[in-house]
Amino acid sequence: MSIPHIITIDGPAASGKSTLGSRLAQALGYLYFDTGVMYRAVTWVALERQIDIVDEAAIARLAEQLTIDVREPSHPDGRACDVLADGQDISWEIRRPEVDANVSPVSAYAGVRASLTAQQRRIGLRGKVVMVGRDIGTVVLPEADLKIFLVASAQERARLRYTELLSRGEAADYEQILQVILRRDQIDSTREVAPLRAAADAMVLDSDALDADQVLQKVQALVNRMREADE
Ligand code: CDP
Repeated sequence: MSIPHIITIDGPAASGKSTLGSRLAQALGYLYFDTGVMYRAVTWVALERQIDIVDEAAIARLAEQLTIDVREPSHPDGRACDVLADGQDISWEIRRPEVDANVSPVSAYAGVRASLTAQQRRIGLRGKVVMVGRDIGTVVLPEADLKIFLVASAQERARLRYTELLSRGEAADYEQILQVILRRDQIDSTREVAPLRAAADAMVLDSDALDADQVLQKVQALVNRMREADE
């Protein structure tokens, strides 16, 4: 087996996917692509244009028409990437609590998923990519050569998100964050289209038992084993 060219990382909200994904991509010189930002972008624009979140047809139309660009970060303000919707920089807007509260119903719509999944697949198939989300190993890139599924308790994930918000100087309420995370997990894993689940051939890592460095080391060890097996 050769060095993996397509690596997928899936898992529930705030399980450390983006930290692992960006560090791994940087170590390998691969593109890091966080698909969650696309669902967040559709949700933010829907809220801003006052499109009713329960109006499935209108939201699906928006997802189809909206041009979402994900680029290298243009500002050293802690963002992992620039996210533009029809040219407007919404890199921080998509992290707002109202997006957290509405993104899962938006992501459950088949029309939204069809539009975004097609774009993600096109980018992923170019290779040398670490793609992060909920359904990347199962639906978007089932042919990926290395699939990681990150799990962690809801309490630990809420604690992580709470610390993240505080470090950005934002107000945060632990109990409220925990409730939003539980609700998102429930919608994401029970939806009909592309529910959150580990691919049969995914390596499941529990980040309750491991810190971010240990998770990265484990995955790098796997990549190295795949590379050595080829030599
Ligand atoms: O960073 P966090 O784990 O909080 O969430 P995210 O990865 O930014 O994803 C936000 C939401 O987008 C998720 O709760 C899912 O509803 C949706 N999503 C999805 O359905 N499929 C993906 N591949 C990625 C995200």
